Amino acid sequence: MQKQVEYGQAIKTKYPEQVVIAIAKDKNGRANPITLGWTMIVSGTPPMMAIAVASGHYSIETIRHSKCFTVAYPSSHMADAALFFGSKSGRDIDKFAEFDCKTESAKAVDSVLLADAVANFECTLESETPAGDHIIFVGQIVASHINTEPKKRLYITGPGHKLDSVS
Ligand SMILES: Cc1cc2nc3c(=O)[nH]c(=O)nc-3n(C[C@H](O)[C@H](O)[C@H](O)COP(=O)(O)O)c2cc1C
Repeated sequence: MQKQVEYGQAIKTKYPEQVVIAIAKDKNGRANPITLGWTMIVSGTPPMMAIAVASGHYSIETIRHSKCFTVAYPSSHMADAALFFGSKSGRDIDKFAEFDCKTESAKAVDSVLLADAVANFECTLESETPAGDHIIFVGQIVASHINTEPKKRLYITGPGHKLDSVS
């Protein structure tokens, strides 16, 4: 049986929610990471991913400029990086200069990978669609990487950006 409630109450049942870090370079060639909970795989052949970025975030400009982005699945010990990249704007600071997070060059697009992530995906920008207060960017995955060591993924486990691994 179901009981009708406000959206804000029902949506709190969504956890755990996956978290990713998307990275695109700005017009000065500076890679800018953004932490995102709202993301999904949208096609298998070809493989494609979508990310929802709020209007006004600097990442809108970086993704539009470079027409590509990478998506990292952060590992469970990367919560501090995810919170830093998800609370500062690349409009104000160089996030990779201010937070120590090892990167590697992407192979197929002009962006970077996160060396300690569980996996990284390189995407070429295929489309963007406005959706309320966010813009959905769809990328085609042109290269994929996994960590050479076993690592657990990081998830959003509750409201207020609570981050942890899940068993
Ligand atoms: C755990 C977590 C999840 C987030 N999910 C999203 C999201 O799905 N979409 C979004 O636009 N911002 C999301 N944010 C907020 C952005 O990461 C944050 O506003 C960031 O500072 C924007 O950076 P930018 O201005 O450099 O693009 C999230 C933040 C955290 C910590």
